[in-house]
Amino acid sequence: MLNMLTTRPRGTNDILPDEVLRWQYIEDVFRQLCQDYGFTEIRTPVFEHTELFIRSVGEVTDIVTKEMYTFTDRGERSLTLRPEGTAAVARAYLESGLKSGPQPAKLYYLGPMFRYDRPQAGRYRQFHQGGVEIFGTNNPEADIEVIALAVDFYRRLGLQNFELHLNSIGCKVCRPVLKEKLSFFFKTRQKELCLNCQERLAYNPLRILDCKEPQDQEIARGAPDSLSCLCPSCVAHFDAVLGYLKALKIPYLIDKQLVRGLDYYTRTTFEIMVADIGAQSSIGGGGRYDDLVAALGGPPTPGIGFAVGLERVLLTMNKQNTPFPTPKNLDVFIVEADEEASGAALELLFFVRAQGLSADKDFLGRSLKAQMKYAAKKRARFVVILGKEELSRQIVSLKDLSSGEQREVSPAKIKEEIRRRYRQDIVT
Ligand code: HAM
Repeated sequence: MLNMLTTRPRGTNDILPDEVLRWQYIEDVFRQLCQDYGFTEIRTPVFEHTELFIRSVGEVTDIVTKEMYTFTDRGERSLTLRPEGTAAVARAYLESGLKSGPQPAKLYYLGPMFRYDRPQAGRYRQFHQGGVEIFGTNNPEADIEVIALAVDFYRRLGLQNFELHLNSIGCKVCRPVLKEKLSFFFKTRQKELCLNCQERLAYNPLRILDCKEPQDQEIARGAPDSLSCLCPSCVAHFDAVLGYLKALKIPYLIDKQLVRGLDYYTRTTFEIMVADIGAQSSIGGGGRYDDLVAALGGPPTPGIGFAVGLERVLLTMNKQNTPFPTPKNLDVFIVEADEEASGAALELLFFVRAQGLSADKDFLGRSLKAQMKYAAKKRARFVVILGKEELSRQIVSLKDLSSGEQREVSPAKIKEEIRRRYRQDIVT
């Protein structure tokens, strides 16, 4: 019992202050990138009606059958912590005025997702995604917009050796042909498949292609591929996507088995993989979902999107020793030289903050030496020392912790002095 009070639930993480700085950095890069590409942010609830995920992600997917955190609330409604972002954004697009606003709607989001999966490095029960969705266009240029944004994100962060895997799984015209061929193929090997896949065979044989069981993966390697079943319009769409990728010099690999683990996909599917982080090598994935909005009861509205797994990106950056920017310093730490200065030091703290500087002080009545140590730990750039002697002369001592230089200034001139003497651009 006590253990439950002091340990976090399995598959979740505390993001501690030092690490939060890295999170803020990659989130900032993602936000800036989305804005540069003309996307605007949307925030949806972390839980939705369970039915939304059953309808969109698919009844026989691993996510819906095994991985959802579903609960009944006090009003007897079945709710689910979102296992992914696309379904909720599509729901919001339909429910709000977005579907009658300017089209295509280009939306992005950042936030926690929840899947009851077996935790291991890179796989958690609460994890974080950054995602983008475009609603209202079936133009292959929109596929490029999303794929290029994904690649640009990893590039801006400085990731190395990632691969873009690409496939097309067709549309409602040609998918039945693929399903039939897959059914026929897997029926001949039915008894060798895992029990789950024997069931999947009846509902959606495409799901067998992303089964994690090694013996099923081996069988699936010989299965008919989706590209050979595409209708002429899906072929034209895929060719256009490949043509644009070549024109933009974005390298890709065709992966004919890439169906992805969610049922809403049509046509283009893609995943970004890295070798450096072990089994959980997919650092992002996405695709087209031209029938999703209609499946939720809306007008036929094509769409395409992508989501990146932020934990996996951080893992990769750590493995590849990718540099992170140095965290910003605290501008000023106020040091109280003696008790007589305590009230004045507090006032000075707020005065300095009101000048637009970041500032902090000691709250434990530490000795002068201990305050100086604490200021260094807090990465302060300057300390301002104030004691009865300084008070009586109406000055403070300003010390630059990086050079050790110290001089006396009037409190009103602290900001000016920092700017003038040290030519720092930390003061805005
Ligand atoms: P997904 O492939 O299920 O797609 O997830 C996207 C990314 O989230 C994965 O590539 C992976 O990096 C990360 N991820 C997934 N599960 C976990 C986990 N248990 N622990 C840590 N990271 C994980 C989607 O979610 C789609 N909604 C993407 C999309 C957007 N498609 C169209 N629009």
